Amino acid sequence: MQAIELLLNRRSWGRLTEPGPDKCDLETIIQAGLRSPDHGALHPWRFIIAEGDGLLRLGDIYQQAAVANGADEAAIQKAQNMPQRAPLVITVVACVTPDHKIPEVEQVLSAGCAAHAMQMAAQALGYGGIWRTGAMSYDDKVKADLGLKGKEQIVGYLYLGSLVNEPSATKKLDPDDFVSYL
Ligand SMILES: Cc1cc2nc3c(=O)[nH]c(=O)nc-3n(C[C@H](O)[C@H](O)[C@H](O)COP(=O)(O)O)c2cc1C
Repeated sequence: MQAIELLLNRRSWGRLTEPGPDKCDLETIIQAGLRSPDHGALHPWRFIIAEGDGLLRLGDIYQQAAVANGADEAAIQKAQNMPQRAPLVITVVACVTPDHKIPEVEQVLSAGCAAHAMQMAAQALGYGGIWRTGAMSYDDKVKADLGLKGKEQIVGYLYLGSLVNEPSATKKLDPDDFVSYL
């Protein structure tokens, strides 16, 4: 796929199925994440891969957080099943170094770029994906159970897999609504 075609046609796919990226494609996807812009060469990111039993473990972590938060039975069940929406989920973590000359927001942006780059790489390889956050990105118990330390943050869960259907058409935005010139 041509790079410009990919950039102009990036999409998210909420409905994903097997197969997910194989070992070789996953390596490529991760390499794309590792090429993200990075002020100060801090490499302020890490990626936690869940597939197969890992998705069950991620579901257990969500389920336990929902229980701890006093959710009702339906919400607990929903939380447990969330990672099953794709064959592979990458938790993208921003490894923020506090009190550094590189502001924290730049470190988080860098990790966000990694999530975006990995979604783009997956699309270029023929997979679909969606970047999700939601309550499970900000829950302290989930962060602890996933092994986050200090000021580490979850910038998102990147769900990746094969396409079930074509997504609905996107609305093309008018650059004039977003661009001005000095
Ligand atoms: C930081 C971030 C968090 C997001 N969280 C969610 C989410 O939790 N659930 C969701 O359905 N979409 C979420 N989205 C939006 C989707 O990833 C996607 O961009 C949106 O559905 C629009 O589709 P498109 O990417 O094809 O334009 C999030 C996007 C970003 C950048």
